[in-house]
Amino acid sequence: MKIEILYGTETGNAEMLAEDLEAHLSGDHDVTLTNLSDADPAALAVDALNVLVCSTYGEGDLPASAQPFADRIKATAPDLSQVRFAIFGLGDREYETFGLGSDKLASLLIGQGATQLGERLVHDASGSDLAEDMAIEWVDAQVQTAATQSWAA
Ligand SMILES: Cc1cc2nc3c(=O)[nH]c(=O)nc-3n(C[C@H](O)[C@H](O)[C@H](O)COP(=O)(O)O)c2cc1C
Repeated sequence: MKIEILYGTETGNAEMLAEDLEAHLSGDHDVTLTNLSDADPAALAVDALNVLVCSTYGEGDLPASAQPFADRIKATAPDLSQVRFAIFGLGDREYETFGLGSDKLASLLIGQGATQLGERLVHDASGSDLAEDMAIEWVDAQVQTAATQSWAA
């Protein structure tokens, strides 16, 4: 399957996690890895599972590398009706705004017609779970769901 991993980060955690997912998936799939700061929303793949990994910064804000991507969506309102994505968040339950960055990003994509596969899961930096363990189990489930759909054939 074609899988495009896109990450939004402020201090590098989402990037490292996205690299872990790339390493995990690339044996069996055709995988690319892109920083959201270099991604054009209008050019999101329509024949791939887009896997987004995005942290939260400030007070429930998008991290710096995802901000230009979000601004471009708002400015250009691209038609994303053929885009399928799954999204994994990074956050910290010490903040009232736990995981809001990935929530905002998902809402922006859905607002332009994109289809979300599966549930958004957010890693809690204050919790005891390892982000890699959570994200790898989660991504395997998303890939399994996508594999049953005709566009991923
Ligand atoms: C200054 C600062 C602000 C943060 N704000 C939030 C927040 O509002 N909500 C949240 O869930 N996590 C928040 N976090 C936690 C980060 O999302 C978490 O540490 C994450 O792993 C950072 O990933 P990154 O390095 O990819 O940006 C904040 C962390 C810092 C240092």
